[in-house]
Amino acid sequence: MKLAVAIDGPAGAGKSTIAKLVADKYNLMYINTGAMYRAVALKAVEKGLSPDNVDEICSLIDKMKIKFNGDRLILNDEDITEKLSLPEIAGKVSHFAAIERVREKLVFQQQNIAEEHDVIMDGRDIGTVVLKKAPYKFYITASPEERAQRRYNELMEKGILVDYNDILNEIIKRDHIDTHRKINPLKKASDAVLIDTSNMTISEVVEKICSHINIQ
Ligand code: DC
Repeated sequence: MKLAVAIDGPAGAGKSTIAKLVADKYNLMYINTGAMYRAVALKAVEKGLSPDNVDEICSLIDKMKIKFNGDRLILNDEDITEKLSLPEIAGKVSHFAAIERVREKLVFQQQNIAEEHDVIMDGRDIGTVVLKKAPYKFYITASPEERAQRRYNELMEKGILVDYNDILNEIIKRDHIDTHRKINPLKKASDAVLIDTSNMTISEVVEKICSHINIQ
């Protein structure tokens, strides 16, 4: 494994914003693993597949060539980043992410990327499963209300009209599914640094992470 920074935490904790900034600072490849699960959910939904159609979803994944360009996800040469934040996908993705064979396939791809590149990877199981041996691990969290407010602002800025309470309920539901699923549930790795960002600015969080990283 090359240089690896693992960032885990619940939805809306600010992982991707922070990971991007740390990636720029240390010239790391940023891998947003949530976007990979969203890409699978998007393609499955487009094909009319439900999370029960496991064989079909797996053959779909085998045909998907996922690449990252900065924080953009390129699927088979098409930039599908914008589509990944559609509320319909956000509402369904955790059901697809709970499928064991889907996880095996995506974890395998994520580990291969980390073999080839210096990475900062964010998700739910990075420190516990994907990059167990990463020298730098962080668990970033914030209260559900704070996370809902951030996601609400983010979607409104993109012109996607949503209701705050819907977002909050969605986050609570998603936290429950992510932390209670049988395979690789969201949990802090025992050797991860815990950061509660509820009352912190983005630059304070970045600074805190960088204070733990020892890279020239
Ligand atoms: O971080 P996000 O909201 O884009 O993640 C989308 C979904 O994928 C969410 O339900 C959690 C799941 N996920 C996961 O199970 N494992 C990961 N490593 C990343 C995301």
